[in-house]
Amino acid sequence: MSTLLVSSLCPFDTTNDVIFSRADFAAIANIVYSESGNVYTDGKATLVYSRLTPRLRIHRTDSFAEYIKLVTKDADERRVMVNLLTTNHTYFYREAHHYDHFIETMRPELIDKAMRGEPVRIWSAGCSSGEEVYSLGMALLGESRSEGLRIAAKDIRFLASDLADHAIEKARAAKYAKSALAPVPADLRNHWTKSDGDDAIIAPTVQNLMRFRSLNLLHQWPFDGLFDAIFCRNVMIYFDTATKEQLLLRFAQQLAPSGYLYIGHSERLSGPAEAYLTAVGKTIYQRTT
Ligand SMILES: C[S@@+](CC[C@H](N)C(=O)[O-])C[C@H]1O[C@@H](n2cnc3c(N)ncnc32)[C@H](O)[C@@H]1O
Repeated sequence: MSTLLVSSLCPFDTTNDVIFSRADFAAIANIVYSESGNVYTDGKATLVYSRLTPRLRIHRTDSFAEYIKLVTKDADERRVMVNLLTTNHTYFYREAHHYDHFIETMRPELIDKAMRGEPVRIWSAGCSSGEEVYSLGMALLGESRSEGLRIAAKDIRFLASDLADHAIEKARAAKYAKSALAPVPADLRNHWTKSDGDDAIIAPTVQNLMRFRSLNLLHQWPFDGLFDAIFCRNVMIYFDTATKEQLLLRFAQQLAPSGYLYIGHSERLSGPAEAYLTAVGKTIYQRTT
């Protein structure tokens, strides 16, 4: 018989009225892996318990085994479950060296391209609640408001996608605590956000460049064109090597010639994508074939 995890994992749950076994955890981890590629090791059992217990209550059951039966046959609830178990931690100007590279190396090329009337396309893949893509939008428009407005009038689009619907909703709302904007250089913040009490709202000029959509990276991608840059940072850390290498290859093939791929600080390039990409900075790669 499988061991009950509740008392050891949930020391603050004095009622112990919800039944959660190792087998339940393994079944949930399997579903999450096959739906999203995220690998859940035993250390995540407490997180699974605490995030899903409210769903059990909504469905009026005190048994994870019953809930698993439900998610197995109900695709909507399965989606809710996978959404709830995503890790959405993010912040503005995370890994600032990527923004330095983007501003110094990519921005002049992208502006030339946009001014020639060509489309500029940037993808934040696994954008979470939008801090990454808004940081990029502000960085592209730059520290001169008049120049930024001229740039914004060109054919520039940032695609920002994530699996988690709640994260996309927050991104679309474009409203953050002012304190969250602190890492953004002051000139960018001053030009491209406006104050709303304790909050800051991303300026409509920046918002208009964004296209948010729900997208599972493991599924087919509905794109016709190639991207000038792809940011997929702190997403693949939760994937196993096979999933990660397959995704890296797809990213490489989705980049325009000389386009850039930015990945998270603890991630590295490996597998068949190495044939397409050359390291040009810390966790920055350029498509060279
Ligand atoms: C830790 S956040 C990273 C956010 C941002 N890129 C950053 O570096 O700050 C990881 C995001 O990846 C998303 N994610 C995980 N698996 C995914 C998948 N299979 N398809 C799309 N997004 C996924 C999660 O929902 C989460 O919002």
